[in-house]
Amino acid sequence: MTVNWISIGLLTDIPLRGARCVKTPDGKIAVFRTAENQVFAIDDHCPHKGGPLSQGIVHGAAVTCPLHNWVISLETGKALGADEGSVRTIPVRIEGEQLFIALEALASRAA
Ligand code: FES
Repeated sequence: MTVNWISIGLLTDIPLRGARCVKTPDGKIAVFRTAENQVFAIDDHCPHKGGPLSQGIVHGAAVTCPLHNWVISLETGKALGADEGSVRTIPVRIEGEQLFIALEALASRAA
């Protein structure tokens, strides 16, 4: 399967322990940068009631949803603790300072 890598700007466009919301034809994607400079991308849509995860608080490799404080793993997209649900995780590639995300849906649509 061909993966469609989309350029989404520079690592430094995202504040440390912060996030950016990237609008794609495939929906809004929240791209996070952790304190360790790891970058993760997940759907910007909390599995609870759709809260904007890109506006949540990043701690470790997780984000706390700004609406009702569910904690979502950035690595797996799964809700942590007693809560159940998950969001889609999107592969991220870093080349130098440049960030890319892989949108499979677009690739398969184009195929
Ligand atoms: S919408 Fe995210 S915790 Fe409720």
